[in-house]
Amino acid sequence: MNLKGVIIQGSSRSNGNTSKIVSFIQNETSFDIIDLQSKQIGGFDYNFKNRDDDFLSVMQEIVDNYDTIIFATPVYWYSMSGIMKNFFDRITDCLKIEKEIGRQLRGKAMGMVSCGSDAQLKKGFEMPFVESANYLGMSYIGNIHTWIEDEIITEALKTDIYSFIGKITMVSKQI
Ligand SMILES: Cc1cc2nc3c(=O)[nH]c(=O)nc-3n(C[C@H](O)[C@H](O)[C@H](O)COP(=O)(O)O)c2cc1C
Repeated sequence: MNLKGVIIQGSSRSNGNTSKIVSFIQNETSFDIIDLQSKQIGGFDYNFKNRDDDFLSVMQEIVDNYDTIIFATPVYWYSMSGIMKNFFDRITDCLKIEKEIGRQLRGKAMGMVSCGSDAQLKKGFEMPFVESANYLGMSYIGNIHTWIEDEIITEALKTDIYSFIGKITMVSKQI
């Protein structure tokens, strides 16, 4: 089967700044988008009381159809968004009760897109993505930090996004 890439959008608004960047990347890659804001995904629970919400079906869809997973998150308080962090916490479900889904993550590629108001990303932001990829047996492709100025993506930033796109599409083809 021909697997492709998906962008997991983790903003608290579906049509905000992160979505502008995500749409730009989608136009250039034809990767699909999964908008976590449109899903019902509860927090991690030790008794897995949220197992019937949207999380497991979203994860099943991801492992079945995609080889490259790009997490796109706004910068909220120097960290990934709460929605995105919830999603990562819930991956624990795939290591405890739905282990087959967890196993299927192995060998896939992960990348990350951050979107802040500042052109600089603080040190340490990327670490949870790098380490989670390592832990899950995924290969980490890299990240790009983005921001929106006066509602637009600057030409300089577009150039950087194009080189990130070059990287993620090349990896996706190799898997
Ligand atoms: C709760 C909250 C916290 C934020 N914290 C930061 C921050 O720590 N650093 C930063 O550069 N921008 C911060 N911002 C600005 C957002 O990262 C920025 O506006 C981003 O482009 C918003 O993307 P969105 O429209 O997808 O939510 C914050 C915004 C919100 C709403």
